Amino acid sequence: MSIQDIYQKAIRYAAEKHAELQQTLPGSIIPYAVHLSNVAMEILVAASHTEEFDTEFAIQVALLHDILEDTHITVEELANEFGNEVATSVLALTKRDVLPKEDQMSDCISRIKQCGKEVWAVKLADRITNLQPPPSHWNKLRKASYLLEANYILKELHGANEYLENRLAGKIVEYQDYII
Ligand code: NI
Repeated sequence: MSIQDIYQKAIRYAAEKHAELQQTLPGSIIPYAVHLSNVAMEILVAASHTEEFDTEFAIQVALLHDILEDTHITVEELANEFGNEVATSVLALTKRDVLPKEDQMSDCISRIKQCGKEVWAVKLADRITNLQPPPSHWNKLRKASYLLEANYILKELHGANEYLENRLAGKIVEYQDYII
């Protein structure tokens, strides 16, 4: 399958599962698939700046990265459709909500670190995409803690992907202007 076909299969599958639950970008009517395609776009651009990067694999993980956290799809179903490696990588990117909230990110990061660098890259791309102007109802504390978490991800995933690390570092600087 060509990378274009791989992309189309993954985005169609993910878009449908998120749309079935009427998921949109927070505070908007924009379909959730826009977030997924933004993460995939970051990955595609990064791939062209990165040696030894499995773009076909990474693009699937990018497009499917929220499907286990936000829909009723199981790891088994995902593995049947996209293979074991994609499914277990998406699982690593999925927060375990049985854990206390304050432990969920560090647990997730430690599982991501056991995966290939493409999976680390998806985590960076996800946060880059999410560091857009915050929703107007977010207070200063919430914005500050989101920024702190972004710094934590950048620090922990050092060595993931130089291009995306630089992008995230830039977004972190820009985001500071929203905390006033
Ligand atoms: Ni996401």
